[in-house]
Amino acid sequence: MVASGSYASTNATLPGARELLRFMMIRRCEDKDFDAIVEIVNDGAQAYKGVIPEDRWHDPYMSPKVLRDEIEDGVLFWGYEEEGKLAGVMGIQDKTDVTLIRHAYVRTCLRNHGIGGKLLRFLESTTAKPILIGTWAAATWAIAFYEKNGYRLLEKTEKDRLLQKYWTIPERQVETSVVLAKGRWKGVLNLEPD
Ligand SMILES: CC(C)(COP(=O)(O)OP(=O)(O)OC[C@H]1O[C@@H](n2cnc3c(N)ncnc32)[C@H](O)[C@@H]1OP(=O)(O)O)[C@@H](O)C(=O)NCCC(=O)NCCS
Repeated sequence: MVASGSYASTNATLPGARELLRFMMIRRCEDKDFDAIVEIVNDGAQAYKGVIPEDRWHDPYMSPKVLRDEIEDGVLFWGYEEEGKLAGVMGIQDKTDVTLIRHAYVRTCLRNHGIGGKLLRFLESTTAKPILIGTWAAATWAIAFYEKNGYRLLEKTEKDRLLQKYWTIPERQVETSVVLAKGRWKGVLNLEPD
């Protein structure tokens, strides 16, 4: 019914669902999607231009080499496909005691149509671990998106420790980023659970 490694964002028991599955689905990205991922990330990242600190912006925002390194470092990309074309991508990275959501991007022309929310809920359903998400402090829309999906913005001391523990990013990026969390993440910093 549903191809292995894919997840239909529709109820497969509904009449006509099989037809819909061909048009809308969430699936694991494969090697053949590499160029489309680069394209979607760099299109989506245009939202950061003039918003994040100037010294953090570069064009392209993510080069093919950086994407390759991220995949080799364990980021698994999933994509939301519409009419046979990837509309958005989101990465998930296992870090033993937590799961990170990485590189969430929806094509600019398709934003605010619920695609990011569907990808996020799907990725959440694949892990029982606490989920952490890092983003730019200046990306207020992204923070609003995650908060709307039940994530909580962490305090500076907590986010600095988490960014240093689970991400491999320069100190300047730690300074200019925030972390949002869902689930019982406090144990990973030996803090009292919520
Ligand atoms: C953040 C992102 C992945 C969300 O995906 P999406 O498909 O647009 O999100 P959804 O349609 O599921 O959810 C929309 C909600 O997200 C937030 N949102 C998304 N884009 C927004 C924008 N430009 N301005 C304000 N809020 C925005 C709002 O809370 C919105 O809720 P509303 O419908 O009540 O207004 C997508 O907007 C994107 O690619 N943005 C640019 C890149 C980025 O910031 N990525 C995050 C990296 S961590």
